[in-house]
Amino acid sequence: SAPRPTDLVVFGGTGDLSMRKLLPSLYLLDRDGHLHPSTRVIAVSRDGLTDADLRHKADAAVQGHHAVQVPETVVLRRFLDRLSHITVDVGGDPTGWTELADTLDPDRDRVFYLAVPPMISGAICRGLADAGLVTADSRVVMEKPLGRDLASAQAVNAEVGAIFTEEQTYRIDHYLGKETVQNLLVLRFANVFLEPLWNSRWIDHVQITAAETVGVGGRKGYYDTAGAMRDMVQNHLLQLLCLTAMEPPASYDREAVRDEKLKVLQALKPLAGENVREDTVRGRYGSGVLHGTEVLGYLDEPGGPTDSTTETYVALRAEIANWRWAGVPFYLRTGKRMDRARSEIVIRFRDVPHTIFPGAATGGGSLVIRLQPDEGIHLTMLAKTPGAGALRLRSVPLELSFADTFATRSPEAYERLLMDVLSGDSTLFMRRDEVEAAWRWTDPVIAAWSDLDLVPETYPAGSAGPAGADRLIGRTGRTWYEEEQA
Ligand code: BG6
Repeated sequence: SAPRPTDLVVFGGTGDLSMRKLLPSLYLLDRDGHLHPSTRVIAVSRDGLTDADLRHKADAAVQGHHAVQVPETVVLRRFLDRLSHITVDVGGDPTGWTELADTLDPDRDRVFYLAVPPMISGAICRGLADAGLVTADSRVVMEKPLGRDLASAQAVNAEVGAIFTEEQTYRIDHYLGKETVQNLLVLRFANVFLEPLWNSRWIDHVQITAAETVGVGGRKGYYDTAGAMRDMVQNHLLQLLCLTAMEPPASYDREAVRDEKLKVLQALKPLAGENVREDTVRGRYGSGVLHGTEVLGYLDEPGGPTDSTTETYVALRAEIANWRWAGVPFYLRTGKRMDRARSEIVIRFRDVPHTIFPGAATGGGSLVIRLQPDEGIHLTMLAKTPGAGALRLRSVPLELSFADTFATRSPEAYERLLMDVLSGDSTLFMRRDEVEAAWRWTDPVIAAWSDLDLVPETYPAGSAGPAGADRLIGRTGRTWYEEEQA
């Protein structure tokens, strides 16, 4: 649909997320014709910047973004002209709210993007309501993690829900905006051959990995209060698990899709108490060498406590207690400062029930859905190695690279999701009950870590993670998928 004239108000508009993701993505949307000519971006912060300061900062942010190879000067100027800054003291001096009210155009859609810690979301929404700024054509966007446990998430949802309806509320999980994640639904539900195999009868287990080479960067202040469980597992990894495991929805409709994801979260077997000792691993990077460069360990990173017990790595074994998945482990792992950045979902098939090639290699194949880098799908299967003599089988890959197959640039997650917010489509956003169901499952794990005093195991930066993760999956004779296996 044609882009509508919108006032996009970004709270936390001069912060890290805004500069790293939102403004560069908005520039790309502008360049590609997805913003209405009169759409404006109003950055709100306590910083007291002038419009010129903000444009200067935004200019550098856009040009520093890797997806913007050669910014087109005319477009960049046009984009920067859309930007302005308003200083608002949330919960304090009302002058800023008045200025915002005077700036907003009553005839346009309004999007309030809360790129701020969730604790202040409620106060911002009340401020908006008190200033009379919430119209029928308003939407609110919230970032993850939403709260730090079920109770705080419920509180934020209630505060925001008192001002905005659920239809007006967009809870971002940017993994849902990744091209391959959406492709997962197409792969599963637009092709006939996978669905008959997509269950415990033919699938041995599933691995979901999100490994990063980056450390906490300048975000230790936030990160130390969250850790990998709240930062990645509660949202991104569980969303990937939902999309992998959910039943076919009746349509690609926002409620139908979200209903099915919710059922998966509700069917997760609780992981609590002593089970947590067996089925989870916490890690924290120590100093190490990453691609030839020495890097600091987490404790020595500036900007947060040096005696922290926060984890930068989690591996766990989850189970979904329903008819399709009973007995199939879902191994999830995520970590910072790993040897290699990669995010992927690996479906590991069972061995054939009976082999007619005794002595030859067996082994169920794997279907790998690669989110990044190099988005694609990779299927391994057994083939005969050419030649006479003894029959030898080898695992060989069938490979689909999206970049090679479709010679077009895939939009980045934030571009895609911002476009959906601007056009009012919330299919790829989390519903309130989903977010709360995810916390309901992660809370007891976090509680058990503290009750059982399970402190993170150190792994060297630039390594494959803590040894405990290999023991976790190795207990049942399984191993983590490595590309070389293909
Ligand atoms: C964010 C987390 O949600 O996702 C970050 O807060 C993490 O800690 C990032 O680095 C990873 O996203 P991506 O798209 O780079 O995999």
